[in-house]
Amino acid sequence: MANKKLIGILTSREGTTFKEPKYFRNLIHQGKKLGASVFLFSHRDVLVKKQRVRGYVPDKHGGWRSKWFRWPDAVIDRCRTRQPGYLSFRRKQHFLYANSIFSNKWNITKYLWTNKTMRKWMPQTEMYSKEALQEYVENFAIVYVKPGNGTGGRSVLKISKGNGGFLLVGRNRNLQRKTWQVTSRDALVERVNLWVDQERIRNGHFMVQQGLDLELLPNRPSDTRLLIQKNQQGQWSVTGLGVRVGLLNSATSNLHNGGKATDFTSFMNNRFGEDKGKKILQECHELAYYTVQKLEEKYGRMLEFGLDIGIDTAGQIWLIEVNPKPGRDIFLGMGKAKLYKKAVRNPLAYAMWLADKEKILRNDK
Ligand SMILES: Nc1ncnc2c1ncn2[C@@H]1O[C@H](COP(=O)(O)OP(=O)(O)O)[C@@H](O)[C@H]1O
Ligand SMILES: [Mg+2]
Repeated sequence: MANKKLIGILTSREGTTFKEPKYFRNLIHQGKKLGASVFLFSHRDVLVKKQRVRGYVPDKHGGWRSKWFRWPDAVIDRCRTRQPGYLSFRRKQHFLYANSIFSNKWNITKYLWTNKTMRKWMPQTEMYSKEALQEYVENFAIVYVKPGNGTGGRSVLKISKGNGGFLLVGRNRNLQRKTWQVTSRDALVERVNLWVDQERIRNGHFMVQQGLDLELLPNRPSDTRLLIQKNQQGQWSVTGLGVRVGLLNSATSNLHNGGKATDFTSFMNNRFGEDKGKKILQECHELAYYTVQKLEEKYGRMLEFGLDIGIDTAGQIWLIEVNPKPGRDIFLGMGKAKLYKKAVRNPLAYAMWLADKEKILRNDK
């Protein structure tokens, strides 16, 4: 078929090993159902002059085989680990990309904080310093220290007051649980300085942040993961959301930290009652649509975001993090296979729509 769409998924590759094989198999499968060909490739697989790309598709034995493809009609950047050469390649805009280059948590936080509407949903945050930490533990009952370029709950430290001192709970870069009890302010600063030195990723910054009381169940943090995606008409739409309930006395609720996914509406109705539950849901949507609009204003066309939203014990809503290349496992964890399928299809449907639109624009010129 002449007009069958070809969609490339840019990712990192070690030989024929890919980081998210299950998701990628699903993407390729759903792509077929939508009438597109989908393949994986890394920036090293592109022959710019020849306009050819070495792409990978599933073989019959659960592995991957490569073949040469023509120039794809659109590309989705799903590269989560920046191998050498990725960034300079990515900046060259060789393809019609469905999503733009994004930034890290610290830069995003700084940018969103400049907006008054966003600020009302954001915990107060500063770049980590001894002085900032001292000021924050003075002002807030809970304080978080976390990397400005981290993921997956790694190196996140929660500080709370208790027993005449401070309790520190966190996960290091290997996701091992760490706890300390310190008795003085000086000992706290010393301990946290050590943490920041040990856990630093490359030369990234740490952040110190107002801590939220997210223990909607006793001694378990919980937060909400909301997936907002572009649809096949090019418009933003909330695909779904779910609550992640963390392990007992954990600092984080990420699914990879032992968090369990559960249904948003029944969870919130149980905790806050139906009326308030509805209002919370509405505000989560409002926050999501506003946030993606602000992010696109600065970073250009984006495809999807997984928002980490904290709903505190008073029912107030806070934006904790925006993930530009989010997982969608939360829907599987909730047993919502249909929603998972939709969440896999949306980016492809959007990329196909985008490729069509660009073609029409080109023909008009
Ligand atoms: N300011 C905060 N107050 C309360 N909990 C927080 C705060 N910041 C992070 N957390 C908890 O830690 C988890 C991980 O933090 P997040 O900023 O999302 O980093 P990551 O990129 O590692 O997921 C959050 O999902 C939430 O459970
Ligand atoms: Mg997160």
